[in-house]
Amino acid sequence: MSEKKSYYITTPIYYPSGNLHIGHTYCTVMADAVARFKRLQGYDVMFLTGTDEHGQKIEKKAAEAGVTPQQYVDHIVDGIQELWKTMEISYDDFIRTTQPRHIKRVQEIFMKMYEKGDIYKGEYEGWYCTPCESFWTESQLKDGKCPDCGRPVEKARETAYFFRLSKYADRLVELLKGGEFLQPQTRVNEMLGFIDQGLEDLCISRESVKWGIPVPIDETNTIYVWLDALSNYVTALGYPSVDGESDEKYKKYWPADIHLVGKEIVRFHSIIWPAMLMSLEQPLPKHVLGHGWLLIDGGKMGKSFGNVVDPVVLIDRYGVDALKYFLLREYTFGQDGNFTNEVMINRMNFDLANDLGNLVSRTVTMIEKYCGGIIPNHNEAAAEDPDGELRDTVLASWKGVETHMDKFEFNYALESIWTGIRRTNKYIDETAPWVLAKDPEKKARLDEVMHNLAESLRIASVLIHPFMHTTATKIRSQLGITAEPAWEDAKVFDCLGGEKVERGEVLFPRLDVAKELEALEELKKAAAGPQINYEPFKEDIEFDTFEKIDLRVGTILSAEKHPKADKLLVFQVDLGSEKRQIISGVAAHYKPEECVGKKVMAVVNLKPRKLRGLDSCGMLLFSEDPEGHLHFVSPDDVPGMTIN
Ligand code: ME8
Repeated sequence: MSEKKSYYITTPIYYPSGNLHIGHTYCTVMADAVARFKRLQGYDVMFLTGTDEHGQKIEKKAAEAGVTPQQYVDHIVDGIQELWKTMEISYDDFIRTTQPRHIKRVQEIFMKMYEKGDIYKGEYEGWYCTPCESFWTESQLKDGKCPDCGRPVEKARETAYFFRLSKYADRLVELLKGGEFLQPQTRVNEMLGFIDQGLEDLCISRESVKWGIPVPIDETNTIYVWLDALSNYVTALGYPSVDGESDEKYKKYWPADIHLVGKEIVRFHSIIWPAMLMSLEQPLPKHVLGHGWLLIDGGKMGKSFGNVVDPVVLIDRYGVDALKYFLLREYTFGQDGNFTNEVMINRMNFDLANDLGNLVSRTVTMIEKYCGGIIPNHNEAAAEDPDGELRDTVLASWKGVETHMDKFEFNYALESIWTGIRRTNKYIDETAPWVLAKDPEKKARLDEVMHNLAESLRIASVLIHPFMHTTATKIRSQLGITAEPAWEDAKVFDCLGGEKVERGEVLFPRLDVAKELEALEELKKAAAGPQINYEPFKEDIEFDTFEKIDLRVGTILSAEKHPKADKLLVFQVDLGSEKRQIISGVAAHYKPEECVGKKVMAVVNLKPRKLRGLDSCGMLLFSEDPEGHLHFVSPDDVPGMTIN
């Protein structure tokens, strides 16, 4: 048996600095469609995605949330992986740049480049914001000030390592002019123009950023983002081989067939990345493909603009396949596209509910009604016009899909499939099976029409599989097909006969546009609601300081409003060994009668204080929810009263 041809496709590794939005989803959905298409064609596919977890931005976000950077990214990465699971993204590996397998290989890559003389020590100069402890480039500044805090910045220098990018300028020009490496072609000219301005050596490490991979020869520096991030495409495959570990996957899948990336990072992938590989004397990826952005009202989508579209909301409402279809069908690869709910809902209605959904339910219903639920065999003697035209149109689809998928023209690939689907719907109107059914002499013709409908639908189920595989499987099961699809199945007609159809749920219900738009608007408002602002952690304390705090579990015996202060409640608390009066500012959160009998946590050795004339001997503990409501820290399952 000949070995399967390999195919390696990657997405960018996403920054886990917040939840992913529909724009990130767009890129991953495209990569997933290609991976599934290639698998269906019989390739041995490696589809890699992951997260880019180091750097100053993450360091800061974590500090704001009062957690460690690792805790911060772990939490967000869980969410990202959950999203890909919900979206049925068929990645083969998920690389995190904080994984040891990546860290040790990035250090090895650094050493290889260093030993070759392509990395040297120098000084990085930039604009420094002292309170934020951050360097900024000239173009990152906002009105000459720190883009984060708005305070003045000053020129500063620090030790850093540089990569001799300039050394590879000529080879990069040659690569880019070669034609196939970077697509779309418009980006090639942009990149050539960029190199033409003079390639400077690249700063690849920082002293001021702590959250990163240490430079192996100098622990005061961490490897700066791009060298770390870009390397993921090979470290995930086991390159360079360290600790005697296998690089079998690298040998099998490298060079990558496709790096799919957003247009803003094309530069890093088509200049820095190939230069790094040239330095490492490794083969270059075959293609870098830059896709456009999804825009909102013509502008960029981002948390800071308050206009992100959450894919989970759309999936909950319309299903994964409808969203995937919309993203792939609506936009033209390489160009920006505007996202609107209205366009999305109309697309789902026209193409999915009307064209595809309708065809499935009409076909299955008619086979049940006219053929006892069994798909008839092909009967040449009963063939008539326009059967030939239907077959030709439906059988032309696979070629269209192949041609367009080769060029990442997802929208045209899907259009080729829908040409067949629409032709089949028209065939029902032309042949009018309900009229044939009235004439017993037309039974053979009716059977042949039903056979052709089932065949067209079977072919559609193969063709849509890479884009919406759950729908494809549902269609196949309604047609009584149990076999897994193969691409070759889309190239032949007259395969079915004898299968028992089984009507299923409506695949895509028709949506009421006005109602949906209103509902989505409401959901958006609800999502913009309260955000959790984590209190930063306080400074560390010594154990003996901690030990001084006497925490106890108590039970509230009585509670009443403070006679002189509206905000305060006066509690009598049973602490086992004694009863105490403790006053808390929670009158806005609890009615006195709600508190009686509650188990509570109390700090009992806080010095007594007078609060508006009454003694308070200790402090009860409360937790604050995102809406600012206070709740007793109530240790219901704690049997004793002391806390150790
Ligand atoms: O750049 N429309 O990560 P990132 C379409 N970690 N695609 C969008 C989009 C939008 N509105 N917004 C984001 C990084 N994307 C680096 C990459 S790779 C070695 C390191 C997509 O999370 C787009 O593909 O900021 C972009 O390139 C990608 O998200 C990653 O963005």
